[in-house]
Amino acid sequence: MDPSHARHPADAPRSLRFPLPAPRTTGGPALVEALTSRVSLRRFLAAPLSREDLGQVLWATDGRIPGTRRRTAPSAGGTYPLEVRAVLGDVPGLPPGVYRYLPEDHSIEQESEGDRRSDLMAATVGQADLAQAPAIVVLSAIPDRTTARYGARGVPYALLEAGHAAQNLCLQVAALGLGTVAIGAFRDEALRGVLALGPEEQPLYLLPIGLPTLG
Ligand SMILES: Cc1cc2nc3c(=O)[nH]c(=O)nc-3n(C[C@H](O)[C@H](O)[C@H](O)COP(=O)(O)O)c2cc1C
Repeated sequence: MDPSHARHPADAPRSLRFPLPAPRTTGGPALVEALTSRVSLRRFLAAPLSREDLGQVLWATDGRIPGTRRRTAPSAGGTYPLEVRAVLGDVPGLPPGVYRYLPEDHSIEQESEGDRRSDLMAATVGQADLAQAPAIVVLSAIPDRTTARYGARGVPYALLEAGHAAQNLCLQVAALGLGTVAIGAFRDEALRGVLALGPEEQPLYLLPIGLPTLG
């Protein structure tokens, strides 16, 4: 089976898909300002994340450049091993749940209902308090998509791609005046359980997103 379609058939009910506002592809602060202001943030205001900001962050992470087949992050041979999910708890207009980002039409598809932020962060090593963030992005990889073309070399390629996407996210978050931290310390099996990931998919990064606390 084509691994890119192994778990998410293209005919998933469209009713579970939520369009995101069109991403901004011009303007914003200079890149050097985003680079300078990026910092790991581990405490968030108890405030919602707007649907616009969520959409902008997901697009920046690994979205498609409008009118092209290119993405914001490079991919080895265009094999695109990454999956980008958003675990939402407080985004007005979007019910709490686990969502998968669909770069093809800049939408999110609901995979499960209910606020799973606490369960997700309980899978981390001592970082449960970060469940206060209104949204948590999860990056994972299906390395088979890349090893199918490059053999064993596809495994490090998939990891490298997660780094590209995570840095895109960090810089977009900084440019929006939001905060995040890249979390790698979690228990794979616990996380797989919360997100119902199959054995072919490797969770790699958690990135809680929210407004910085004042002061
Ligand atoms: C691969 C990787 C894993 C990380 N895992 C965690 C983590 O589990 N928890 C955490 O609070 N920060 C984590 N961080 C963030 C680092 O602690 C942080 O980037 C570092 O302290 C430098 O600070 P700065 O990001 O503010 O420049 C991780 C960073 C990387 C690159």
